Amino acid sequence: MFFIKRKMLSYCERATGATLMIQKMFQEHWKPLWQSFSLITLISTFKQAGRLNRTILYVSQIHWPVKMKKGAVGFVSENLLPPDIPSTWRAMEALYASGKARAIGVSNFSVKKLGDLLEVARVPPAVNQVECHPAWQQPKLRAFCQSKNVHLSGYSPLGSPGTTWIKGDVLNNPILTEVAEKLGKTRAQVALRWGLQMGHSVLPKSTNETRIKENIQVHGWSIPDDLFAKFSEIEQASLISFSFGVRLVSGTGFVHETYGAYRSIEELWDGEV
Ligand SMILES: NC(=O)c1ccc[n+]([C@@H]2O[C@H](COP(=O)([O-])OP(=O)(O)OC[C@H]3O[C@@H](n4cnc5c(N)ncnc54)[C@H](OP(=O)(O)O)[C@@H]3O)[C@@H](O)[C@H]2O)c1
Repeated sequence: MFFIKRKMLSYCERATGATLMIQKMFQEHWKPLWQSFSLITLISTFKQAGRLNRTILYVSQIHWPVKMKKGAVGFVSENLLPPDIPSTWRAMEALYASGKARAIGVSNFSVKKLGDLLEVARVPPAVNQVECHPAWQQPKLRAFCQSKNVHLSGYSPLGSPGTTWIKGDVLNNPILTEVAEKLGKTRAQVALRWGLQMGHSVLPKSTNETRIKENIQVHGWSIPDDLFAKFSEIEQASLISFSFGVRLVSGTGFVHETYGAYRSIEELWDGEV
């Protein structure tokens, strides 16, 4: 899956001057991996946090710790199989060794799954891409990633406003609003800046040129310590709390009473819900 739309990519190229190479290798090299191992593999790009030298790393990631039947199309429960993450990781390592992936990583891995993988990995995952925003701050996973030198990359950093199947309301959080008003920034900018100051990269998505420009304006200023500390007061999302900020991406599609490896959301996330 390649998510970057041409228009947005073009804007990013102009805005950052970054050399973004479209993954022409995708069709040739990554698709066979998907087919052979029936795992959902995400190709993503991100500008390496902290580096200003316009380098773009290409990361091939295991999208979810799940496995689908060979040749399966779409997310149909009947196609779920128990995953064999060690063997998939060996294939990822081969990809890395071939030079076709400049880094390899995972996505939606809990502390437990990441720890299990690190036990068997010869090339440790460079990144774990997970949901992360002020209402789902991932302190346990963040600490674990830091201790193992795995970069945490935050998806849905704005809480997916406007996404109809997601009920989050992260940008309307009163603390975020207060900080934005005090700093004269938008709530989206503050949410993204919070992520950067926490030390992870942020992956906002917009199809709107004005908002893309807005989302890029998160450098050259910072949230001062006193306001930054307020973020720790934000009520954290939970799968079992349907009031404010339910964890947005729960992975319920990968849970089934018969098929696949996970009988409950708690099993999928190893209790880290
Ligand atoms: N690895 C995974 O399993 C996984 C899971 C979920 C998402 N992701 C990835 O993470 C990225 C972002 O996730 P996401 O789209 O769920 O969440 P998001 O970036 O938090 O939110 C995107 C939504 O916010 C709106 N938006 C963007 N900038 C805004 C701004 N400045 N002010 C107000 N609204 C704004 C967008 O609308 P407009 O387009 O109209 O601006 C869009 O509806 C995507 O690339 C996605 O593929 C990965």
